[in-house]
Amino acid sequence: MGVWSAPGRANLIGEHTDYNDGFVLPFAIQHRTAAAVRLRVDGRIRVASTFAEEPVEVALDDLETLFPSDGAAGRAQGPTVPEWAAYPLGVAWALRALVPAWAAGTFAGIDIAIASEVPVGAGLSSSAAIEGATGAALNELWGLGLDAVSLAQAGRRAENEAVGAPTGIMDQMASTLGQADAAVFLDCRTLETRSIPLGFAEAGLEVLVIDTGVKHAHSTGGYRERRESCERGAAALGVAALRDVTEADLPRAAELLDDVDFRRVRHVVTEDQRVLDTVAALAAHGPRAIGDLLVASHASMRDDFEISIPELDTAVDTALAHGAIGARMTGGGFGGAAIALVDHDRVPAVSEAVRTAFAEAGFAEPHLFTVVPSAGPHRDV
Ligand code: GLA
Repeated sequence: MGVWSAPGRANLIGEHTDYNDGFVLPFAIQHRTAAAVRLRVDGRIRVASTFAEEPVEVALDDLETLFPSDGAAGRAQGPTVPEWAAYPLGVAWALRALVPAWAAGTFAGIDIAIASEVPVGAGLSSSAAIEGATGAALNELWGLGLDAVSLAQAGRRAENEAVGAPTGIMDQMASTLGQADAAVFLDCRTLETRSIPLGFAEAGLEVLVIDTGVKHAHSTGGYRERRESCERGAAALGVAALRDVTEADLPRAAELLDDVDFRRVRHVVTEDQRVLDTVAALAAHGPRAIGDLLVASHASMRDDFEISIPELDTAVDTALAHGAIGARMTGGGFGGAAIALVDHDRVPAVSEAVRTAFAEAGFAEPHLFTVVPSAGPHRDV
């Protein structure tokens, strides 16, 4: 019996590049999800959560029936467990699939109780935090000895195949590899990572999150469509993934693709370059040098990838007008949160200006708080 926890994440830059084999630069945040887990002897798994009144209980051996291994199509018929339960159950399923069948039979049953302080639907990866906490717990209690990358991969598999959201691996890698005061620079093709010192506190900067309160779900609609545009773009250009396209190839892409697909491709290609430029700017000049890259990233998501919403644009524009060094929406889009890099002393003024702008535009009141680059999963008790 014990308690394990894992963080949510904010993405500093590199949006919708992960499933294109590209680059991302997220960091884990101080908001965490905790999983209290104990073994049981009857081969059953029960999950309870502060998200729901009723726990969900199944036999471990039934997980393979619950989540058939035929990709997201397995969930096309609709969930047979509530969506919140598919995250921890999906992690248990993905971890069992990593060990030989004879060993899977020897796994003890488990009880899992989940509580989270990561805001849900804010684009801060509450789902990766659940996956990370569950994965860390089962890795230890089942004696699997898996490393952080394998646990991230199991989390992504749960999300893709058990929940049915066609997401990339950024969120899980950010959560499992997070370090204090640093971002995770990830090459999503090779899964190589580098810890990038951020130095926000030293530079007197805060990351202000502006959660619009507009909820999004990546298992439906726009996220999947964006992914399909990217796949069409890569196929038309004859490459494995948009990672293999550079800005020099864009004129050719413009000839081969329709306007919408072209703009989707241009976002991904320029965003990959912005991630590399951000890493270089941080190393050469520190965090005050990255503002323009954040702003350009937001413009690209608003105009080319079309995943922003008026609330996010208002958050970004208002923060910039009141002295933020940079600002952009973070996460998958269609709702969720923006981040703004703001001088410590200006946080109250920027926050007040954003609240006023939201009220004047008739938007729901935003939720504002600061986040701090923080450590990955650990055992708490
Ligand atoms: C969501 C997904 C990630 C990534 C982002 C967009 O957070 O879970 O894999 O694609 O959207 O960058």
